[in-house]
Amino acid sequence: MTYPCVWTVPIEVCLPFVIIFLKMGTADKVKWDARYEGKKAPGEPADFLQMIFSGSSWVIPPGRSLDVATGRGRNALFLARMGFTVDAIDISTEGLRQGKARATVMGLSLNWIEADLARFPFPDSAYGLILNVNFLDRLLIPQIKKALEPGGYVIFDTYLIDQQNLGHPRNPAFLLQHNELLTLFKDYRILCYREGKFSDSGKESFRAQLLGQKPV
Ligand SMILES: C[S@@+](CC[C@H](N)C(=O)[O-])C[C@H]1O[C@@H](n2cnc3c(N)ncnc32)[C@H](O)[C@@H]1O
Repeated sequence: MTYPCVWTVPIEVCLPFVIIFLKMGTADKVKWDARYEGKKAPGEPADFLQMIFSGSSWVIPPGRSLDVATGRGRNALFLARMGFTVDAIDISTEGLRQGKARATVMGLSLNWIEADLARFPFPDSAYGLILNVNFLDRLLIPQIKKALEPGGYVIFDTYLIDQQNLGHPRNPAFLLQHNELLTLFKDYRILCYREGKFSDSGKESFRAQLLGQKPV
């Protein structure tokens, strides 16, 4: 028997892979809910994000923005405070609960979306800014590019391969190779890029950080 959407692959062959794929999302949710349980405030916004918005080197006009894997929303809250409309997506119910609670205290309104990014349909040309901090799913890069409007900005800031020797994360799947971000966004105008050991919320880690602009 074949399944219509998988054409020639018999259902008994592809079903185990579908189940593994669905379980991966559930495992992430359980892991992150447990990590966030009992934590206090969402924490300070990422240093790189604050650097971009301090001073007048770059001017990113407030508009619709997306925070990919927002966690407890520390960066999403920062963008909302800067006047952006924010879609904040994460798989963790607990992370989003804490973000929402903080938003209420701050008098901010954000669109909190609980979803597995592996299955989230990004809207086309919808965002003026997309933020991706401390998260890496290379398969999402085409989606991020599609979801940015022409002239829109991407801020990408996550761990570099050198982090393996310093602490977590250690899994190479979640670590960027040297210059990899530059390759992934080679069709963008790169306004700022750096690699090295930088502080994020008072803790040092090896990171790659990029501000890029989608061609108009
Ligand atoms: C290291 S935290 C980063 C949170 C936030 N960006 C920050 O910098 O504070 C990684 C986040 O990715 C989220 N995550 C992991 N897998 C996910 C998935 N498949 N879909 C949506 N979110 C996911 C986790 O729930 C967690 O909140």
